[in-house]
Amino acid sequence: MTYPLRKIVFPAAGMGTRFLPATKAIPKEMLTIVDKPLIQYGVEEALEAGLSEVMIVTGRGKHAIEDHFDISAELENNLRRAGKDAVYDRISRIARMANVAYIRQKQALGLGHAVLCAAPWVGNEPFGVSLADELILGETPAMQQLRAIHEATGASVIALAEVSPQDTHKYGIVKAHDDNGRLRLTSMIEKPAADYAPSNLAIIGRYIFTPGLFERLQRTRPGMNGEIQLTDAINELARDEEVYGVVIKGQRFDAGNPGGFLAANALLGLQHPEYGEQLKVSLRPLL
Ligand code: G1P
Repeated sequence: MTYPLRKIVFPAAGMGTRFLPATKAIPKEMLTIVDKPLIQYGVEEALEAGLSEVMIVTGRGKHAIEDHFDISAELENNLRRAGKDAVYDRISRIARMANVAYIRQKQALGLGHAVLCAAPWVGNEPFGVSLADELILGETPAMQQLRAIHEATGASVIALAEVSPQDTHKYGIVKAHDDNGRLRLTSMIEKPAADYAPSNLAIIGRYIFTPGLFERLQRTRPGMNGEIQLTDAINELARDEEVYGVVIKGQRFDAGNPGGFLAANALLGLQHPEYGEQLKVSLRPLL
């Protein structure tokens, strides 16, 4: 029996240490690009790709995420009463756009462990995983690009981007070869130094998995930084099942780092229909 792809997991329990002090009291997933938090971009991308059931894996200090996707009756009533219809529409939509469920990762045991926390909710179906600090924009949502390969093959699929040698230590890096026009991944390693990197293709936070991933996650021992690494479990999965990669078409920002975050805000700010022109005018004399 094959299942259609419906479910997507957003691991959001990480401590956001790369973004301190901003993330001391604010979840990194709630940092905004222009006027929208990162996690909303991720959820909207998933919905556009036809996934409809969302699980957010949270942890200590992450209540703001739940509040964001919840109905705020007081705010909605106030906006309505004040006749702010456009803002009302934008705000009320957020709580109603998806079925969002939450589970707590009680200890920070790593990304792989966070995904494993969602196993009872996912059950025996294929599922997506999206890391909200990677912002990917483009005509075809990144998740849709993965979905196309998953639907053609029934296999797990991972989003990739080329990175320079000095950046391999920031990402999972894959070993890949051409397999009848598709990119087949045979192994991968978490955050290798350039000398140990099997290629220049980095994992960029969008995945579709067969449920077979969970067995591998259960067996995965702590790896890099003493954490249960998702990359290590995918490496095991790739020994037994086909795992494909897709170099994503679109514009990608590693918004979990201040540099990528600022670039995303600058670009989306300049392109924004309401604020873009004014931003250009304000910046011009300063550049
Ligand atoms: C995680 C993954 C890594 C991937 C990266 C994408 O690392 O472990 O394989 O390349 O996301 O941003 P993190 O950024 O959580 O350290």
